[in-house]
Amino acid sequence: RLAELTQQRGWQLYLVGGAVRDLLLADPEKTLLLTDIDLVVDGCHQSYENAENNQQNDKNPPAVELASALQKTYSNARLDVHGQFQTAALLWHNDPVLDSLWIDIATARTEFYPYPAANPEVEASSIRQDLYRRDFTINALALRLTKPYEGELLDFFGGMNDLQNRQIRVLHANSFIEDPTRIYRAVRFAVRLGFELEFQTKDYIQYAINSGIYEKVQSENYSTRQRVPALETRLKSELKYILQAPYWKPALQLLGELKALRCIHPTLELNQELWRQIRLVDRGLIRFDPEKTLTHWQMRLEVLIAHLAPQYRGDVAETLQFSLDSIERLQQLDSAKAEVVKLMPECQLASQFYRLLVPYDLPMLILIAVQSPRWVRHRIWQYLTQWWNIKPLLNGNDLKELGYKPSPQFKQMLDDLLVATIDKEICDRKSAEAFIQ
Ligand code: CTP
Repeated sequence: RLAELTQQRGWQLYLVGGAVRDLLLADPEKTLLLTDIDLVVDGCHQSYENAENNQQNDKNPPAVELASALQKTYSNARLDVHGQFQTAALLWHNDPVLDSLWIDIATARTEFYPYPAANPEVEASSIRQDLYRRDFTINALALRLTKPYEGELLDFFGGMNDLQNRQIRVLHANSFIEDPTRIYRAVRFAVRLGFELEFQTKDYIQYAINSGIYEKVQSENYSTRQRVPALETRLKSELKYILQAPYWKPALQLLGELKALRCIHPTLELNQELWRQIRLVDRGLIRFDPEKTLTHWQMRLEVLIAHLAPQYRGDVAETLQFSLDSIERLQQLDSAKAEVVKLMPECQLASQFYRLLVPYDLPMLILIAVQSPRWVRHRIWQYLTQWWNIKPLLNGNDLKELGYKPSPQFKQMLDDLLVATIDKEICDRKSAEAFIQ
């Protein structure tokens, strides 16, 4: 339907980006479910290159016009329009037929062409330019969806060859300097698809990192004329993508080898110690948070940031838009750790360990554990295994049934009971009642 609507207007429509790559890589025996589709429309007789022009022009950019026309047929889709960026998105959520589907339509970013619209070279050059702005050759392929050449694969930069040779190759030398998140994308695609980073691409990554990429992340001013979100938002979403993926370990390892964590902070290196801490966090999460009440990828990110010197943590956490909880935790980590390490040798009874550790929540305890000496860590793991979720044998209602009138003493009585339970002085309801009386 969308292709028809495009043809009626004399424009060209292309499927671009990840969907083309995934279609070409897909196993023909299996069904490929595309949930995120990027389309580019080339309405090449119109120039919509900048927002100022758009405001003077009362016509919608082609992408917006097409998406609005399609929505008339599919009224259950939500339409999001970014007229100033010449893009529109149609979203279906829990649709009975389409389930969840996201279609992004962008207008090919045609420079000004003083040629007739029908000129095929003009057509080819505007989609070519759009593709040339992209990250890797395998993501810069386009499949034409409109007649007369529907189904034609446009491969200007050797993407097909790289798909066959399993290479991640960047399109131009400055790509990583212009957009450092592409370093993370390169790693993500390499690990996810089992591809290699092409050797010159690796050089460009090294060059970008050595040229002080962090300053770039810090200093980028979000320009409203860009149709992409701010750099730190993109960096955070790439980190999220990687750290929540099943392949997060090899991906992080490759980021470490490339020294790419310097995009987060120039002093951040994935050394053996940090790697050990990350693995410990993971074990802690598997053991103590099997229901995944915590967001595990965030905990992995938090331990990376916790590895920085204390004076840098707050700023980096803010830049990466951490929650207030996480920021506070990172700020308090060192004092909490110092307190635990200092007071733990004085603890003899189980209840003393309990009292020392009970003020801290699970993420804080995991961070303290992985950064502390082994004997402290073992006690924290023991606390989490045996005492953390311990339930009191009696509650306030039980005390009332035993004939006690509610009073401020209740809390103390229940507290004493808990301590006696932890120290195994009592083990069942009967002995608990006897203890109270
Ligand atoms: N893109 C880019 N540079 C970026 C982000 C995206 O050039 N920093 C381009 C790529 O051509 C990419 C397309 O935008 O294919 C869509 O981006 P995105 O949806 O993030 O990635 P996909 O390639 O679709 O990958 P995935 O399957 O992981 O979503």
